[in-house]
Amino acid sequence: MIEVKLDKVSKQFNGARGVENVDIHIQPGEFFTFLGPSGCGKTTTLRMIAGFYYPTEGRIMFGENNVTYTPPNKRNTGMVFQNYALFPHMTVFENIAFGLQVRKQSKAEIMDKVTRAQKLVHLDGYGDRRIDQLSGGQQQRVALARALVIEPNILLLDEPLSNLDAKLREETRLEIKRLQLELGITTIYVTHDQAEAMSMSDRIMVMKDGIVQQIGTPHDIYNRPVNRFVASFIGESNLWEGTVERMEGDSVYVRTSSDVLIAGLAANASPECRLALGSKVTVSVRPESIREAAASERGLENILAGKVLMSEFTGVSVNYVAQVGTLPIKAMFIGPGQRMRHRDEDIAFAVPKESVYFVE
Ligand SMILES: Nc1ncnc2c1ncn2[C@@H]1O[C@H](COP(=O)(O)OP(=O)(O)O)[C@@H](O)[C@H]1O
Ligand SMILES: [Mg+2]
Repeated sequence: MIEVKLDKVSKQFNGARGVENVDIHIQPGEFFTFLGPSGCGKTTTLRMIAGFYYPTEGRIMFGENNVTYTPPNKRNTGMVFQNYALFPHMTVFENIAFGLQVRKQSKAEIMDKVTRAQKLVHLDGYGDRRIDQLSGGQQQRVALARALVIEPNILLLDEPLSNLDAKLREETRLEIKRLQLELGITTIYVTHDQAEAMSMSDRIMVMKDGIVQQIGTPHDIYNRPVNRFVASFIGESNLWEGTVERMEGDSVYVRTSSDVLIAGLAANASPECRLALGSKVTVSVRPESIREAAASERGLENILAGKVLMSEFTGVSVNYVAQVGTLPIKAMFIGPGQRMRHRDEDIAFAVPKESVYFVE
């Protein structure tokens, strides 16, 4: 197990920003994920850690070793590429063995290690199959075995599930997590899929346009997004713009631009959000934190009466898109026994004060 440190790392391509000022400290054995939309700099950052790109600025440390300009084959990282980069005409065994042969290990040693790696990814007995005779999921596991067989200090995975269909993606996600826990290997995982990032990671780094937005546990990122981008990229959120109208004890009252008053707690503000009378803020509320209000609650704080625009039943929840005056609202009521309301019906929502979050 080894720690990985990026010290103010930047990479430019002919003067254009790849990534800027990435500063992270990944713990030994941690599952750390780079998350963001296409083009935000995830692969660039991963490639610098693997040694395929050198930074324009900054320093990369593996434990006590400065590896900033160390060539890839001297870093002992195992990498899985998005397209797997397997040799299609070679067998499973030959593909997995490749890295060991390059390292000039003995035949007996190679046999032993490849057999173990095949077991690890549940491909025992597949050694003689050619890659082009395998399914996408099996190919993905060969790529994983090939990365692991060299016993790397760090496992690097660049969108390893993106070529799989939805069901297989979920299975393989659990499989990768199991392997990582079993081996205790420091793992850096790249994805644009927030559900993948949330379910697998110890910590997530959210990126946009080459700039780090937030680093935190899935819990932090979900419940305490630092800005509007993070709030909207991770899960669904109601994002309402407004102005601070009143501050009273622990409470903050924001008048949205559609003239609805929302109360929240001053403690639930992102570090970038300055709460002061008259300041403009964005209010973020998760749809699943909203519940249906009882008739007796009407007129109370954070009880929003409106009309249904759209409703859907998903099996686990009833989801609403509704309007409170001109304020759009998304709500998700989870659990059995929800009475479904349809288009144009009246509905009242209760927004719990403690689930109101202020960003920017
Ligand atoms: N080899 C390269 N040459 C020039 N620009 C590049 C190169 N690799 C990446 N970039 C640019 O750097 C930015 C980040 O790209 P990348 O790291 O591949 O994003 P992601 O993996 O998050 O989709 C993009 O604007 C991309 O066009
Ligand atoms: Mg990429």
